[in-house]
This record gives sequence, C-alpha cells and structure tokens, in this order.
Amino acid sequence: MANYIPDELIAEITAANDIVEVASSYMKLKRSGNGYKGLCPFHGEKTPSFHISPDKQLYHCFGCGAGGSVLQFIMNIENLDFVDGVKMLAARANIPIPEGDSPEVSDKTHRRKQAIYKINSLAAKFYHANLMKSDNMVIQNYLIERGLDANTVVRFGIGYAPNDYDTLTKYLLEEGFSEQEILDSGIARKSEKNGNLYDFFRNRVIFPIIDVRGNVVGFGGRVTDKSLPKYLNSSDSPVFSKSKTLFALNFAKNHCRDRIILCEGYMDVIALHKAGFEYAVATLGTALTKEHCGIISRYTKEVLLCYDSDEAGQKATAAAIALLKDVNVRTKVLVMKGAKDPDDYIKLKGAAAFEQLIIGSENAVLYKINKLKQQYNTDVLEEKLELINKAVEVFAEIESPVELELTVKDFAAQMDVNPETVFAQIRQYRLSKGKKQGFRQTKVPKPEIDKEGMLLGLMAANKSVYLKMKKLVNEDFFEKDSCKAFYNKLVQLKEKGFEADSAAVLASLDDQHAKSLSGMLTAEMPYENPEKAAEDIYVAIKNSKTNINKIKSPEELSRIIDLIKQQKKTGRRINTDGVE
Ligand code: CTP
Ligand code: MN
Repeated sequence: MANYIPDELIAEITAANDIVEVASSYMKLKRSGNGYKGLCPFHGEKTPSFHISPDKQLYHCFGCGAGGSVLQFIMNIENLDFVDGVKMLAARANIPIPEGDSPEVSDKTHRRKQAIYKINSLAAKFYHANLMKSDNMVIQNYLIERGLDANTVVRFGIGYAPNDYDTLTKYLLEEGFSEQEILDSGIARKSEKNGNLYDFFRNRVIFPIIDVRGNVVGFGGRVTDKSLPKYLNSSDSPVFSKSKTLFALNFAKNHCRDRIILCEGYMDVIALHKAGFEYAVATLGTALTKEHCGIISRYTKEVLLCYDSDEAGQKATAAAIALLKDVNVRTKVLVMKGAKDPDDYIKLKGAAAFEQLIIGSENAVLYKINKLKQQYNTDVLEEKLELINKAVEVFAEIESPVELELTVKDFAAQMDVNPETVFAQIRQYRLSKGKKQGFRQTKVPKPEIDKEGMLLGLMAANKSVYLKMKKLVNEDFFEKDSCKAFYNKLVQLKEKGFEADSAAVLASLDDQHAKSLSGMLTAEMPYENPEKAAEDIYVAIKNSKTNINKIKSPEELSRIIDLIKQQKKTGRRINTDGVE
C-alpha cells in the first residue's frame, strides 16, 4: 500500500501495541490453549469463534473470516482507514509519526476522507452560526417551543440551513474545496438542468451526526412546518454509513456502560439527554441493523428499547428484539402509555415519570408475552390454547433455568394451568426445534491450512529459516496474490534490517490480504523443529506444483509430509493417495 508512513515505522508501531491488550479494551477475552478466545466483535455470535495468538500477535475469527494484526483490528473496530489506524496505535504507544501533508502523501482514500471531515465540520459551524443570527428568531422560537434551551442547542450543535439555493456551497468553494470534494461530502448536489451545484439542505433545522471520535459525519434536517419529507438525512458517503452509525453515541458512550436507551428519532434523543438520560441513542431513519447491534454490544450490557408507541414502532421493537438476541446484551422494553414517543412522554409527564418507566421496564420475553395476551381472549378455550402454544415458543428462548421457572410459574398461574404441563410443552417444543435445526447446524469451520501461508509464517518467525528459504524461493514461488504480497513485504522489511514477524508484515499489507492470511498464520502448526518443517513444506509445495492438490487440514499435511519423507528414503515417487 502506498502511503507516506514507512513500513518500518508501521512495523514498530504494531510491535509496540500488544494485540491482547488492545482487543481486551473492546471485548472480553478468555484464555484458551496458547491463546485467547472471545465473542467476535465483528459479527453477532453467542459461542466464541474469535481467536488471538499472543505469540504471533494475530487475530482470526473462524466464524466471519475477519483477521490480521493489531492494526487491522483497530481499523475494523474503530472504522478507521489505514493512516488513521496507524495514527491511533502510534498515539497509544507514544510513538511520534511524521505529520500529514508531506509531498509523499499518496493515500487517496485518506485524503478524500479528510476533505469530507473538514467540509462537514465547516458546514456544521455554518448552520449553527446561521441559526444563532437574530434574523432567524422564528427558527430559534420553534426549537424553544419544542422544549430545547440554548445549552442543548449548543451542545448538539443544532443549526439551520438557510432557504437559499447555494449559500453554503459557495462558502465551501471560497474556502478552497473542489466541486468534487463538496459533492463527495453530500453537502451539495449537481443540478441535472444546468450542472450547477446546489445545497442539499435548505430551510431545515439541522442536526449534525457525530461519530465517537468527534468527527461530523453527516446531518439530519427537519422542516419547521408540515411540508414533506419531514426529515432528510445525508446520504452514505466515504465517512458515513447509516447502518453503522448511532446518533448521539459520541455523548452516550461515556454514560452507557450499564444500559443504553435506543429510540427512533433525533428529537427523542435530544429530549432524553436534556432530561438527564445521557445514555440515549437513535438509529438514523433506518431500521436497526446487525452492525448497530455489534456496536451496541461493545458499549453496554443492556438495551432499553424505546420506540414510538404506534404500530410501526411496535413492529420495529419486535424486529430489534430478534436482532439483539444474537449479541450478548439483555434487552428490555419501555412501554409508554399516553404519549407517542419519548420526546412527547417527557414533555407531558416529566423526567421523573420517565425514570419510573425505566424502573418498570420489562424484559423482552415478558414484553412479548404481554403483547400475546392482548391478542387473545382467554375466556374462549381455543384462543387460550393458542395463546399458551405461542407463549411456549417465547419461553423456549429463555436460557437461564431460574428465569424460566419464575416466568413460567407466573404465567401458568395466570392461565390457571399446572406449570409442569407448560414445562413439558416447552421441553417438547425445544426438542422438535432442535431436531429441525440439527440438519442445518453450522459446523465450526476449520482454518484452511495452506502450505504457502505456513512457509511464510515460519520464515517470518525464524531468522535461520528465513535466510535458508530466501535462497530457494522468490515471489513467483507463491501462487496466491496475498502470499506474494506477504513475501515481498517480508523481504523488504528484513533487508532494511527490521526484525519483522508475521504481525509486522500483515500490518503493512492491505486489509483483504491480511484477512485472507490471518487464518493460516494464526493456526497452530504441528511442528517442533521449524527449520525441518520449512524444508518439508518447501518440498511439498514444489511437489504440489505438479501433483498435489491444495492441502485442507493439518492432518493431511502431516500425511503428505510423511509420504515425502518415505519418498526421499526409498527414492520412489508416490502420489498423495499413497499410490505408486
Ligand atoms: N425519519 C427520516 N425520514 C423521515 C421521517 C423520519 O429519516 N421522512 C427518521 C428521523 O431520524 C426521525 C425518526 O425517523 O428522527 C423518527 O421519525 P418520526 O417519529 O416521524 O419523527 P420524530 O422523531 O417524532 O420527529 P418530530 O418529533 O420532530 O416530529
Ligand atoms: Mn417526535
């Protein structure tokens, strides 16, 4: 990858950040064998398939294939590009790096993103200053009527987009940004009629969307009258992805260790924060996604769902409960009566009443059971039976035996049936469901053990292996692009006299290559003597170029190596099936 940070420095920075330490600050890790494992922070899962090898300073998830060095970890978990990832690790280890706009800066993505961040930040200041002008009293009054005060307006950086065609665009052009950069940011669009740029947000109250590092990534804009659409949001851009962004997480991240409130709208979040519930966030006009759930599970233990009380909100609640089941958080539901959303509720009943709602919130199972109870008339036998059957399906999800017992006993009493009967039905349901699921039970995928990756791993880990192999192989010896890239980088670093291990090399490869190599480099190798191992693998690769197919497991590899040894001893040529 072309960039102005030298590879040796990247290797040094990587080496200075222990992957176990860095990962531990984002997730729980447990010791397992020679390494650590945990629930993968990059995809929802309940049984851990995420592994770290502290010796190799690498991670790999056998579930989703994520993997690499500490640098790829930080880039992926913090959603950073390469340069910012390196900078973050450098800061963490107190290593200075040459700053910014040196002539060699050639990382285009990074430069493009930096321009968008600057544009967004200037735009946010522009909108905010515009709101505060005395000629925009009407808009200020609108916000005051909605219950906001000056403090809140400043804290959230709320602004107002003038009702003009291109005031902001012109300002940004004057500031020296190119038309392309302004278009990339989404602040302006190009008119199909005359090709001119025009401001995307006009005559709207503006809510800046800020990421957890404090960058303005996008905006939401609301009309102040009844016109439609009520809200307009920035489109996704190189710095903004709605499916991965939660509004106000930049504030909530410091207050949500125990619980987070998830609601629908900008105004809900702002009203909640103003009322002291600073652990509220919202999705941005999109449904909750798996990515959101992953992020939420990194920040908190418990989600309080607080969607609108209309039908759409209740549907969204059911969908969110289902999605949150796949990550490791407790889910509770706030049931608001007499108000359409949390903003409304606080305005009508006050913060103390909302606090009571939180105290009385019910867990997702009870919420579902209560919803069911509203749907059936238990005075009619058929309906009562139907209700119990449906409830059994919900109870079957409860993992804790104590919780199951308490919940079921309570429900059985209400239904006036023997709890044992309900328990029996739950067992039956679980059994039948288990059987059905048995067919598509996911196997824990084994890492693909690859000869090329193993040889490279050994070369990186062991100096004498490196020196020996360096005489025998070159870039063309390796078939996979990722392996060629690894080999070249390894040689480059070693030739500069840098003690590069696999992690250092992976850190300077691009994400795709690092990901595809992480599995085989993290895997334990069945060898005692690395030099001997390298030699054997080298011979196996040479052989495979003619007659050995890709090796799929460590067992297979040992078998082939045995064959090769035999071959050497006897001088006879044997194919991998053991046939002469
Ligand atoms: N939303 C959107 N586009 C729309 C309508 C809504 O993106 N046309 C998103 C916004 O993020 C909004 C959220 O959905 O904040 C909730 O919408 P809604 O309940 O209609 O608005 P409220 O948040 O109640 O807005 P307000 O209180 O300002 O009327
Ligand atoms: Mn509202």
